[in-house]
Amino acid sequence: MGFWANHVLPRLIEKACRSRTILAERRRWIPRAHGDVLELGVGSGLNLPFYDAARVAKVTGVDISRPLLRRARPRAEQAPVPVDLIEASAEELPFVASSFDSVVVTYSLCSMEDPSRAAAEARRVLRPGGDLMFVEHGRAPDRGTRWWQRLLNPFWKHVSGGCRLDRDMPAMLRAAGFELAELTASYSGTVRWLSFTYEGSARPQPRELAAGDAGAHDHGHDHHHGHDHDHGHAH
Ligand SMILES: C[S@@+](CC[C@H](N)C(=O)[O-])C[C@H]1O[C@@H](n2cnc3c(N)ncnc32)[C@H](O)[C@@H]1O
Repeated sequence: MGFWANHVLPRLIEKACRSRTILAERRRWIPRAHGDVLELGVGSGLNLPFYDAARVAKVTGVDISRPLLRRARPRAEQAPVPVDLIEASAEELPFVASSFDSVVVTYSLCSMEDPSRAAAEARRVLRPGGDLMFVEHGRAPDRGTRWWQRLLNPFWKHVSGGCRLDRDMPAMLRAAGFELAELTASYSGTVRWLSFTYEGSARPQPRELAAGDAGAHDHGHDHHHGHDHDHGHAH
């Protein structure tokens, strides 16, 4: 790995992930995790202070970036819950099926080479009735912003460590066999191509329903607070 990937990029990623808006998202979702928790793409561990010691037995954080895991170590030591950091890919998790009560993923599915596979892996390792909490930016609802996302994708991917701007996170989670229990989708900042944010929780669908059931409906409530929805894609 070069100087950029080893030294510059980890700092940039950490800085970008420390905005006030993202902090509020972490405060909102991370305390919801419970039991044995798996965090995908734990990065420099910015979620670790927000786990609730009364609800969480242990957090296992996986990431493919050694420099970011190194930065996570002091946060793991100071976290209110026991933390294990493991260098592994979310696309090929080194855990047996049904080993976690919660999976957390924030701003990481955008960077993974094969996020659908990571979502399928998350489903595999979640116990029945377990919860996935996610906060991810992705595909904008309006055509104009999507045009910018498509245009900027190759450049952005190159400078950001692999991040894609226009992934349809809810569709991907549903395709992996999750049922979305809560979903909010809205612009969280002024840079529209970067800030359309999906946050929510999801549950593994029973296997017999998930297999090829294209017409499955979500229960609970889907909130869409986004502007300029043109309903150009299925939520
Ligand atoms: C923008 S950072 C977000 C880090 C952290 N989740 C947060 O909210 O601050 C994206 C992270 O995804 C990680 N990542 C990318 N591909 C991955 C994969 N296949 N498996 C695990 N982590 C991955 C990157 O190394 C990076 O740490």
